[in-house]
Amino acid sequence: MPALLAPPLSLYVHFPWCVRKCPYCDFNSYTLQGELAAELYVARLARDLEAQAAEVSGRPVVSVFFGGGTPSLFSPESIGRVLEAARRHLTLAADAEVTLEANPGAIERGAFGEYRAAGVTRVSLGAQSFDADALAALGRIHSPGETRRAAEELHAAGLSNFNLDLMYALPGQDRDGALRDVEEALALAPAHLSHYQLTLEPGTVFAARPPPVPDEDDAAAMLEDCAACLEAAGFGRYEVSAWARAGRRCRHNLNYWSFGDYLGVGAGAHGKLTMPERGEIVRTVQPREPRRYLAAAPGEITRNTVPAGELPFEFMLNALRLTAGFSMDDFSARTGLAGSAVAAPLERLLGRGLLERTGEGYRASELGLRFLNDLLVVFLAESPEKSGGFALSIARAGGARDSLRPLFTGADPPIGE
Ligand SMILES: C[S@@+](CC[C@H](N)C(=O)[O-])C[C@H]1O[C@@H](n2cnc3c(N)ncnc32)[C@H](O)[C@@H]1O
Ligand code: SF4
Repeated sequence: MPALLAPPLSLYVHFPWCVRKCPYCDFNSYTLQGELAAELYVARLARDLEAQAAEVSGRPVVSVFFGGGTPSLFSPESIGRVLEAARRHLTLAADAEVTLEANPGAIERGAFGEYRAAGVTRVSLGAQSFDADALAALGRIHSPGETRRAAEELHAAGLSNFNLDLMYALPGQDRDGALRDVEEALALAPAHLSHYQLTLEPGTVFAARPPPVPDEDDAAAMLEDCAACLEAAGFGRYEVSAWARAGRRCRHNLNYWSFGDYLGVGAGAHGKLTMPERGEIVRTVQPREPRRYLAAAPGEITRNTVPAGELPFEFMLNALRLTAGFSMDDFSARTGLAGSAVAAPLERLLGRGLLERTGEGYRASELGLRFLNDLLVVFLAESPEKSGGFALSIARAGGARDSLRPLFTGADPPIGE
């Protein structure tokens, strides 16, 4: 058996509140009722970090992601205190990437400079669209003008390394509309762009009362137009929905997709930790509801060892989203499995044109990236012990919204950018 090696380690911190819950969103986020419990929550995060620190003792943390929900509802001082706690209890790398998710409608004027002073090095802004009617249909709390102002403030604050989240295949949108949104986003000179197809997620308002969205063929045509525009502007696609200028890929999300490790703190946050000495990979989940999380004792976390039979699927679910794919050496080092564990499905997918060989490993072909579910299901079939629950997870994973969460086959999707 190849040796299981500890991969790079990241830290995810979840902030579960938003000004208003968007009708399409199934993230672990809640409309804020009354005043933000900032003090209590930050103190609880610090205790959470302390409780988990021993498990990653001495391992450098290469990236931190403040995600939500809407972390920008928390003041720069609060974010700074969480970072201080992370520095106190963990070994934060000197050049760690520190991303803050921000909603253009929930950011104080001038705050970006203070977030930067507190240690934030990168911002991810939820733009979604630059069409005022589309934003209204999505239930967003901000105007296109507020997104533009936030982008200007980011540049002025020295945070030009920012991402814009855009969605396409929106209610009533046509090809021109989708392309216009990308052009408007590019005009703000972001370093990174996340481009998600709107998906109607079970349990959301949109799933109960579906708005009229473009069909799959129209959505594919929109993606094609937008991709050509992004490429012409010097952006490279490195994951199903993630585009970046040279040197501006998101290190945090790359670590998820490379089957790296991450500590998860905050309500509902998921973690993944490799324990080479025990030959185990462990998944952790925090209490999901903010009130339960606040009331729980630090360390009151659900832990599950990933069964060896599920590792090929878990690895591929992440790695095959990357346009560069993966090397067989990484597969073995990060799962502890020999290449023979996936030789048969890899051959089958090569034969169907869904996969391509690279120098050291494999990557999804253009067709494979478009039909990722068909590709992944082959690895699922290799594991006879998998239950029906996985069918649901895989369907979700194949949706175009993807990138900014690590993909995981547990009951809830984990939370990422
Ligand atoms: C946690 S949110 C980003 C930060 C902030 N909460 C905001 O919305 O401005 C993550 C991103 O996921 C995307 N997203 C959420 N639900 C989606 C869905 N149903 N389909 C496609 N993309 C979705 C949106 O682009 C959103 O910006
Ligand atoms: S999309 Fe963002 S702002 Fe809207 S509910 Fe989800 S997390 Fe909150």
